[in-house]
Amino acid sequence: MEIPDMSSKKLPCRPEMFDFEGISMTHFFTENWEKVRNFQSRPDDILIATYPKAGTTWVSYILDLLYFGNEDPECQTSKPIYMRIPFLESCFQEFSTVAGTEMADSLTTTPRLIKTHLPVQLVPKSFWDQNSRIVYVARNAKDNAVSYFHFDRMNMVQPEPGDWNHFLEKFMKGKNVFGPWYDHVSGWWEKKQTYSNLLYLFYEDLVEDTGREVERLCSFLGLSISIEEREKITKGVQFDTMKQNKMINHVTIPFMDFKISPFMRKGKVGDWKGHFTVAQNEQFDEVYKQKMKNTTLKFRTEI
Ligand code: A3P
Repeated sequence: MEIPDMSSKKLPCRPEMFDFEGISMTHFFTENWEKVRNFQSRPDDILIATYPKAGTTWVSYILDLLYFGNEDPECQTSKPIYMRIPFLESCFQEFSTVAGTEMADSLTTTPRLIKTHLPVQLVPKSFWDQNSRIVYVARNAKDNAVSYFHFDRMNMVQPEPGDWNHFLEKFMKGKNVFGPWYDHVSGWWEKKQTYSNLLYLFYEDLVEDTGREVERLCSFLGLSISIEEREKITKGVQFDTMKQNKMINHVTIPFMDFKISPFMRKGKVGDWKGHFTVAQNEQFDEVYKQKMKNTTLKFRTEI
């Protein structure tokens, strides 16, 4: 598949958000909805599911290396990750790129690695029917919010974020593309209690010990790799290495303005401390308590 030359395309205006099936969305993720809803999954597909900015690209790259690092190393150096791992619900027709469903249908590699940001209730039925494996990654709310804010600033196909205060208010109300963080992470957590083919990972665990989490992924997927291979992958997916890699760091995407903020921004746990005021933090904790009161999902408290 050719990498589309999007350099001559006109940059879009910031899209409007609207309510779609109970969550905030933009047309980029709803236009192809019939095809998304009817998407035919295969039993060996692996779905990478996350709330935006929770470490999707990181886990995607780990899986990509685990399955195709030795088999097809050239692919990693010539094809951006978003061409290797289709973003299921995406439909950037304005840029003449193929829709996520189409890209997934045309993949000839096995297993197909597919990315989604959909909340659990909107995932196409065939993934459950086929008992496909799913890797979910969750990130603590405060860092996730900060990362999403900077992403919306630099990504012209996301709604205008406004200033940090405005964005944080929106985040607490759940008015972000793909809906409330709270419902997303807890909805997927509840699903894990009944659906055994779901591995629930935490961004903070990946930062703490990437090798251990690679091992966890391997045991979930039934893969056995040597210690040397594991170390090689762990090294290859460190923040600084990924940041330098043009096939990973998204510099090839024309609607992202890297002068505003890089895609691979900081890669840290606790970055929120440099953004939240004391008052914002207190208010956030209060809202958090309310919104998360009915879930057994717990994030680390020391963040
Ligand atoms: P920051 O904005 O906090 O730096 P996604 O891929 O879901 O869009 O998530 C992007 C976030 O994951 C960014 O967070 C990015 O820097 C971080 N990330 C990506 N690869 C990483 C890595 N190898 N180590 C740590 N963080 C990483």
